[in-house]
Amino acid sequence: MSSPPSPRSSRLTGFYRLGVAERRRRLLELGALSADGFAAIDPGALPLDVADGMIENVVGTYALPFAVAVNFCIDDVETLIPMAVEEPSVVAAASNAARMTRPRGFRTVVSAPVMIGQIQITHVADVDAGAARLCAAAEEVLADARRLVPRLAERGGGPVSFDVRILARAGLDGGVIVAHIHVDCRDAMGANLVNTLCEALADRVAKLAGGRPGLRILSNLTDGRTVTVRCSIDDAQLASEGADGADVRRAIAAASRFAELDPYRACTHNKGIMNGVDAVLVATGQDWRAVEAGAHAFAARTGIYGPLAVWRERAGGLDGELLMPLAVGTVGGALHVHPGARLALDLAGAHTADRLAALCGAAGIATNLAALRALATEGIQRGHMALHARGLARAAGATGDLVDRVAAELSALGDVKADRAREVFARLCSVALPGIPGGEPR
Ligand code: MEV
Repeated sequence: MSSPPSPRSSRLTGFYRLGVAERRRRLLELGALSADGFAAIDPGALPLDVADGMIENVVGTYALPFAVAVNFCIDDVETLIPMAVEEPSVVAAASNAARMTRPRGFRTVVSAPVMIGQIQITHVADVDAGAARLCAAAEEVLADARRLVPRLAERGGGPVSFDVRILARAGLDGGVIVAHIHVDCRDAMGANLVNTLCEALADRVAKLAGGRPGLRILSNLTDGRTVTVRCSIDDAQLASEGADGADVRRAIAAASRFAELDPYRACTHNKGIMNGVDAVLVATGQDWRAVEAGAHAFAARTGIYGPLAVWRERAGGLDGELLMPLAVGTVGGALHVHPGARLALDLAGAHTADRLAALCGAAGIATNLAALRALATEGIQRGHMALHARGLARAAGATGDLVDRVAAELSALGDVKADRAREVFARLCSVALPGIPGGEPR
């Protein structure tokens, strides 16, 4: 499928109120997808034989809701963010927060896509001499490494540096050295590439160091492959029902400081970030376990686990900044075979790893902002229960306006349960009721 252009605007007011067919029509009108594109996310779109080729012992496929978070403008490009996630509030939270950022949008800085491969060398008799020999041979090792990945070099990537650390002078494994080869992986996530290089170089590197080759594998602490995302929100955007914007701003900055002081809070704060990041990673067929592992190791890089995004007050508003490692790819991996992942990248207009990383980061800071704003005001439960009520209304059979009506009545009754949803739905079907307004507009 050829890539559709980016939408004129991702500001799709009331998108969440439409039915699935209407949402698809809206995306078609926007030119965000071609009509045949949706087949890739229809139920059962992943053929069993394709799934069988992806992993071992397949007995079926497993579906998740695939949604579009709206309102994102990232580096001046209107962007629809694909998300696959089971948690009801994530897409709503991302879209709401992105709406707040719209006057200025998200700004991103993505580093070069450099991954680290590790070669462990054990039983080194003299680690200082071994490390010195490796450092002296760095250029030769790099030249060998470059010869091993000629196609990557043609695309402007390849091994860029080689360094060495002494991990132990003596012990059960004798003297231990680790050699790092840093590889610019361009648009690939790079795991296979880096692992292949490490395996090919290990014997030579261990011999140079005067030790035995140990593990040869990439590191998921990809601190050379990061994304920074900034956004700036005025008080007027932060205000919510019954909450003054300046009060919300102060409360969010205080929530950020709480995460900066306390690893117990920082972990949950980061979970709110990963809600957005992971939803994009899953939709786009990425190795989300790798990104999760890297994110948390990075969060603990100073020796104390801290937040991946922080919020600071400025006159009349709030500035947010997220910095995290994001190793993603737009070639290779599951993308060759998974139809939904390909479609997600097309929908997002993410045809390079840089752009995909920027989108993931923007989704992450958005879900963080939405969580902190809710926690700093009414708490998260009202919003969660409202979304849960809409889900139950739909499951009870409600469509169109009836979804809001059933959900509003369940919330008003304070009884958000499946049985009650069926009861309310049955009653509303037989009685004409006046319109009931929905939640906060998105
Ligand atoms: C829930 O999925 C995420 C939050 O706990 C994040 C946070 O506490 O910041 C609401």
